[in-house]
Amino acid sequence: MNAVVASQTVVSDQEFQLSSVDFERIRQLIYQRAGISLHAGKQAMVYSRLSRRLRETSHRSFSEYLQWLERATGAAGEAEWQEFVNCLTTNLTAFFREEHHFHALTDDLRARAARPIRIWCNAASTGEEPYSLAMTVAETLGTSAQVKIVCSDIDTKVLATAQRGVYAADARGLSPERMKKHFMRGTGDNAGFIRIKPELARLVEFRSFNLMSPSWAALGEPYDLVFCRNVMIYFDNPTQRKVLERIHAATTPGALLYVGHSENFSEARDLFRLRGKTIYERV
Ligand SMILES: C[S@@+](CC[C@H](N)C(=O)[O-])C[C@H]1O[C@@H](n2cnc3c(N)ncnc32)[C@H](O)[C@@H]1O
Repeated sequence: MNAVVASQTVVSDQEFQLSSVDFERIRQLIYQRAGISLHAGKQAMVYSRLSRRLRETSHRSFSEYLQWLERATGAAGEAEWQEFVNCLTTNLTAFFREEHHFHALTDDLRARAARPIRIWCNAASTGEEPYSLAMTVAETLGTSAQVKIVCSDIDTKVLATAQRGVYAADARGLSPERMKKHFMRGTGDNAGFIRIKPELARLVEFRSFNLMSPSWAALGEPYDLVFCRNVMIYFDNPTQRKVLERIHAATTPGALLYVGHSENFSEARDLFRLRGKTIYERV
């Protein structure tokens, strides 16, 4: 990242001033904490995402907030760092997003059905993705299949939403048949909302996990199938390579890696080779 030397105001006429020095500091901090490369030009996004936090913590400027954040220690400090990260992640997702993966998954599950299957859905956001996996498992092998889906994300707020398993009844990507089969409809105050059925929720286990963490051993036994979709786009090439090496180490021989539509890892063919449209096989 290029250092910005002069401090000019990059977002003004607003409640708070965001200078180029503040913006550069924020870029460095989110890169160090989450591996996210914020591009120059994202000032307005940073302003809108973080200004709420300034208000909530009664700070009058970005520089004041950043100084306070960097000095914060102990549990309160950790909690504020988590808030900072939560503000700067992008959490767009949907049920059955990139649907071809779920058709492929049906075959991949059948091919592995003789043994217990471990699936890791990382960067899972608000849960639509892991529950789409759970629905596919239920429709292919049944809910008593020996399948575990570990769902993780760095953002504790979206993870809490995922764990709740409650969505708007007009959620994108869900067919009426699937909604009826796999969700309970809310009534009274909960009208307009749906909740994932317990037999599907049971297949999914939730964990807060940062892909930049040095302690991948905490993920437990190796995984057979890994969904890592639409998160690597936020990482630079060296960071992507590091994550791919760690996914390689955290998976079984022949494991499959499903990635987002604009993610391409053909340069890491020593680790994963392309097996289908945005699906890689561990070498
Ligand atoms: C655009 S969403 C993708 C959600 C889902 N995988 C999909 O494709 O629909 C990106 C997710 O990556 C998460 N994320 C960003 N940096 C991360 C990191 N270092 N470790 C784990 N998750 C991260 C964000 O919190 C966000 O929920």
